[in-house]
Amino acid sequence: MSEDHTHVREFFTARAADWDGKFPDDGPAYAAAVAELGLREGDRVLDAGCGTGRALPELRAAVGTSGVVVGVDLTWAMLAAAVRAGRDRDGRLLLADVGALPLGSRSLDAVFAAGLVAHLPDPARDLRELRRVVRRGGTLALFHPIGRAALAARQGRRITPDDLRAESNLRPLLAGSGWRMTSYTDEDARFLALAVRED
Ligand SMILES: C[S@@+](CC[C@H](N)C(=O)[O-])C[C@H]1O[C@@H](n2cnc3c(N)ncnc32)[C@H](O)[C@@H]1O
Repeated sequence: MSEDHTHVREFFTARAADWDGKFPDDGPAYAAAVAELGLREGDRVLDAGCGTGRALPELRAAVGTSGVVVGVDLTWAMLAAAVRAGRDRDGRLLLADVGALPLGSRSLDAVFAAGLVAHLPDPARDLRELRRVVRRGGTLALFHPIGRAALAARQGRRITPDDLRAESNLRPLLAGSGWRMTSYTDEDARFLALAVRED
């Protein structure tokens, strides 16, 4: 893993033990977002930047026992918390960078990524790597259980025009990485951008 991830790993290592306790009411928002990914029984899905695996039970429920669920994260402490919570029962956990996935090309039907994209040092490159592992017509969900404005207020900052997740920035970023954005929602209770793999 490259050096530019050091800060991200330190940040989430310090927060891993308390992560789930900080956001106890997010479950329904994750369930609703997973439902919009359009998964079917037997599908293969990646949770990119899975952290403590909060989405893994919902992803497993969506693809059933015949499906494949993989969670990837580069912070060991977050994955360890996922194991302590028993979420390794719902998906295979891998310590890896989403920018260099140990997965075959076109091996998946969909990618779910919650709270990830703002932490990527080179989002265009990493979104291309996520595209590589998804089949033609496969889907991507970029989700956050809080909207951009509400998150900025919680963090005591303002949204700036260069915000990666602004629709006017995200749409071309996705397009340049081989994804076509099919829907965009940014309301207080959630952020959800859906995209389909082009070509
Ligand atoms: C805000 S947390 C969200 C965790 C989880 N998806 C959730 O919704 O609770 C972001 C996660 O992305 C992981 N992450 C950041 N950059 C990554 C990368 N390049 N590859 C893999 N994981 C990454 C962090 O380690 C952290 O666990």
